[in-house]
Formats: sequence, structure tokens, C-alpha cells
Amino acid sequence: MNIIRKYVAPIEDRLQRILHGREPSSLYEPCRYVLENGGKRFRPVLTLLAAGMCGEKTEKAIPAALSVELIHNFTLVHDDIMDDAVSRRGRPTVHTKWDMPVAILAGDLLYTEAFRQLLAYKEDSSVGKEQFSLLYNTLLDAIRVVCEGQALDMELERSAGATTGEYLKMIEGKTSALIGGSLVMGGVVASADKTRLQSLDRLGRIIGLAFQIQDDLLDVIADPDKFGKIRGGDILEGKKTYLFLRALEQSNEIQRHELNILTRKQTTPADVQRVIQLYEQTEAISQTEIKVESYYQEAVDLLQSFDDSIYKDDLVALLDFLKNREF
Ligand code: IPE
Ligand code: IPE
Ligand code: MG
Ligand code: MG
Ligand code: MG
Repeated sequence: MNIIRKYVAPIEDRLQRILHGREPSSLYEPCRYVLENGGKRFRPVLTLLAAGMCGEKTEKAIPAALSVELIHNFTLVHDDIMDDAVSRRGRPTVHTKWDMPVAILAGDLLYTEAFRQLLAYKEDSSVGKEQFSLLYNTLLDAIRVVCEGQALDMELERSAGATTGEYLKMIEGKTSALIGGSLVMGGVVASADKTRLQSLDRLGRIIGLAFQIQDDLLDVIADPDKFGKIRGGDILEGKKTYLFLRALEQSNEIQRHELNILTRKQTTPADVQRVIQLYEQTEAISQTEIKVESYYQEAVDLLQSFDDSIYKDDLVALLDFLKNREF
């Protein structure tokens, strides 16, 4: 967390001020509840670091960084509705604490506030028209691809024969797209050339794969008090996670049959325990740990194509923090 602390203060401060004192409280209270409740904030830090790596002052990337964190929080509120999730960051989800209409509207508000942050660049005479459009389009594209990934996530939930290839395409959408967008926006603020922007996008894609496969893993092995979400939430919801697909691949016939039965029915807490046991017995857990580690390593390797700078070193440290995270 130290490495995030080094950069996050101006972001945190502004995030807390954006919605301060606004009314009606039926709209803004749930929005403030979402924003005040921590979260790792690593996406906005990625935006600042990318700007720094491309030779720009990190401060210039603050509005872009705010916009990606707001979009991230918007996706979480709506994702929790889609996933029937009861807790996030150790507290009740918005639709559980209030209700579904409140959560839909809170998400919508966070979405508009995200784009409003970008207007700061319109006032900035050092940001040209084209650069502004590129910034705007980068965020729009990222959100579109996140929506596509979320749609695939739900399709796969209903599908009986999901493949690892489909899974990877799904998480490249729901998770990598915004992480890539966070980095690319930092690059755009720094007027980086197309090749650099493509490298940042590729880097984001790999970080996203590592991060989401790890999220699937933490859903099962993390201490729920630290992770802030209930254990086995993905199993309860019938999600096609990396762990699940890996376990199916490595199962014998009896185990495969049991896994299929357990995850297709209305799942009970005892079923969740049994599925986790099967993940262990089929070595899906250890194989998934290896996969996560190898994607993080790939991300560090990709970083080598960037010029040396403190920002690059800090990004390596950030990847190390993410790799070892428990929440
Ligand atoms: C959660 O993201 C959604 C996924 C992509 C798995 P984070 O784990 O970054 O959420 P917070 O903001 O730190 O709570
Ligand atoms: C994260 O997927 C993707 C988005 C929120 C867009 P998950 O559904 O796995 O995220 P968590 O586990 O709820 O944080
Ligand atoms: Mg989801
Ligand atoms: Mg979810
Ligand atoms: Mg998850």
C-alpha cells in the first residue's frame, strides 16, 4: 500500500470533495458511501505513473485519474446488482443497504461525474483539441469494452460448456479494458506517441488478466474480513471463473460430474465448501496461483521496453503490491 500512498493523496482528497454537501441525499448519500469507502485506488495511480513514465508531470493527469476511479466505482455498484453481491469493501453493497433503484441511480451519477472531470482539460491551454478527443474516446472505448465483458460474464454464467478462451476474452473486457484505459489516458495526457500508447494498452491488458484471475482466486482463498467480499461468492452465483474452468480440466470423471451438479443447482453453503475442496483436490488452486504469478511477471517484462524512471520503478513496486494483495 505504501507505493499507492505516495501518489494517492491528491486523488483521495478530490474524490471526497466532488460530492460534498450535494442534495438530494437519497442520491448523493449512497454515492458518497461508495467513494468514502476506500478501495485500493490503484487505477488512478496507474494513470499518474503512465503520465510520469511518458515524461509528463503526474499532476497533469489528476483529472484523468479521477475519471477512471469514478468509472471503476460506477462499474462496482452496477456489478454488485448483476452479481447479487451482498458485501463489498467489508460493507453492505449499495443495493443491499438501500435498494436496487437507488443503486442504479448512484451508478449513473458516478458515471456522469467521471466524464465531468475530463472537462478540466478543456480549460487547459496546453491540451489540444485532438488530445482532448483522444482522452475522451479512450475512456468511452474502455467503458464500452467493459460492458461487452460484463455481458459475456453473464452469458458464460448461463453456458454449460465455457472454454478458457471465452473466459480470457470476457476478462479482457470486464477487467483489462479499464486498467488499460487508465494507463493509456496517462500516456495521452503526456502526449505520448501511438507506439507508446499501444505498449501501455498491452501492459494494461496483461495486468488486467493477472488481476482478475487473482480476484477469482481470492474469492475462494482470501480471508473474507480482509477481502471485503463473502467467501465463494462466485460459486454461489455460478460464475465461470478461471478456477472453475481449470478444475474441470483437471478433474477425473467423478469430480467433473460433481462439479457440474454442484454449480448448476441452487448452491448451499455446504456446496460451496465442497466446490472449494474440489478446487484443492484437482490442484486448480495451485495452478491458478502459478498463472497469476506468470501474468504479473509478463507485465514486469513488458515494462522493460519503457525508459528507466522513478515512475517505472514505482510501477514495478505497484505490481509487486498487487501480486501480494489480500484484498
Ligand atoms: C474489483 O476491483 C473489481 C475487479 C476488477 C475484480 P478492485 O479490487 O480494484 O476494487 P477496489 O476498488 O480496490 O475495492
Ligand atoms: C469485476 O468482476 C468486473 C467489474 C466490476 C466490471 P467481478 O464481479 O469478479 O468483481 P467483484 O469480485 O465483484 O469485485
Ligand atoms: Mg461481476
Ligand atoms: Mg462482482
Ligand atoms: Mg470477483
